[in-house]
Amino acid sequence: MNLTSDLGGEASEKIPAVQIAGLQKTYRTGFWLNQKITSLKQCSLTVYEGETFGLLGPNGAGKTTLLKAMLGIIRPSSGRGLVLGQPLGDRAVKQRLGYLPENPYFYDYLTGWEFLQLIAGLFQIPAAVQRQRIPQLLEMVGLAQTAARKKQMRRYSKGMLQRVGMAQALINDPDLVFLDEPMSGLDPLGRYQMREIILSLKQQGKTIFFNSHVLSDVEMICDRVGILAQGDLICEGSLEQLLGTTNTYHVRGEGGTAAGLEAWLTDLQFQGETWQGQLSHDPQKFLAVVNELNAKITAMNLARPSLEEFFIHQLRERGIHQSS
Ligand SMILES: Nc1ncnc2c1ncn2[C@@H]1O[C@H](COP(=O)(O)OP(=O)(O)OP(=O)(O)O)[C@@H](O)[C@H]1O
Ligand SMILES: [Mg+2]
Repeated sequence: MNLTSDLGGEASEKIPAVQIAGLQKTYRTGFWLNQKITSLKQCSLTVYEGETFGLLGPNGAGKTTLLKAMLGIIRPSSGRGLVLGQPLGDRAVKQRLGYLPENPYFYDYLTGWEFLQLIAGLFQIPAAVQRQRIPQLLEMVGLAQTAARKKQMRRYSKGMLQRVGMAQALINDPDLVFLDEPMSGLDPLGRYQMREIILSLKQQGKTIFFNSHVLSDVEMICDRVGILAQGDLICEGSLEQLLGTTNTYHVRGEGGTAAGLEAWLTDLQFQGETWQGQLSHDPQKFLAVVNELNAKITAMNLARPSLEEFFIHQLRERGIHQSS
């Protein structure tokens, strides 16, 4: 099956890891199964090998449904897809996929270590490889080996469960990893570590597809993002494509003189010693001027909307003011 033509004839050399075209999922609900909910509407998307793709969307948008359809856990009602070059649900491909579910169900009475052994067994990973890989993964996700070996998972905190979940998603050294809300339940340090793990997976050349509500994390680590709303993929692209490119910086600083700074900054505002303004000139030259003026820069950011502002705007434009 070749989906390339359906998706507008990609001419680049990038290799698609996931290609879906017109994917739709309708659930029958109600006591008599006489009601229908369309959770995904004609979704088409390509994610390339080595890419980190973040899927955003309010509660009930269909993110988990899309991820499960890509993993072959649920069958789409219509549409087609290829994952690592094979049709959705292909058994051999499943060996090369990793999956962190949204609400991972863990075996309460197993220790983390035993749980990882169980999952490794399902992938038929030899015992010698398991003995090497399990401690490596525990180290990577920041879960203490003693807790993993001695503590049953019913005694784990939410953050510890999320870490074991991440370790089991990677047990088969997958090429393509699907993560459903990987930051869920993690404190700021845990979120930072999870971002580092995702970045290290990217460095190893793995393809990562994840759902998230934490827009700042997505902004920091994703190559491309998509927004799903009420089952529709309403936009998708790199941050530059979605948020726009700009050469203007928002600069904050201290000291110097208004006369000296005015030549460089527009909308200059002073508050006591501190000031802020917009810089549209060469930042290197401006830094030299700041030094000459005996001033100091305290913050400098690209003056484009944040992903959060873009996200809220996209939803409001479509009349979506609250999640379902
Ligand atoms: N098995 C099911 N049977 C019936 N409806 C379902 C089923 N699974 C999901 N849905 C419905 O499909 C829609 C999308 O659900 P989904 O879980 O994919 O959303 P989500 O974007 O992952 O939300 P969240 O951010 O809360 O995790 C919701 O309206 C949900 O109620
Ligand atoms: Mg979900």
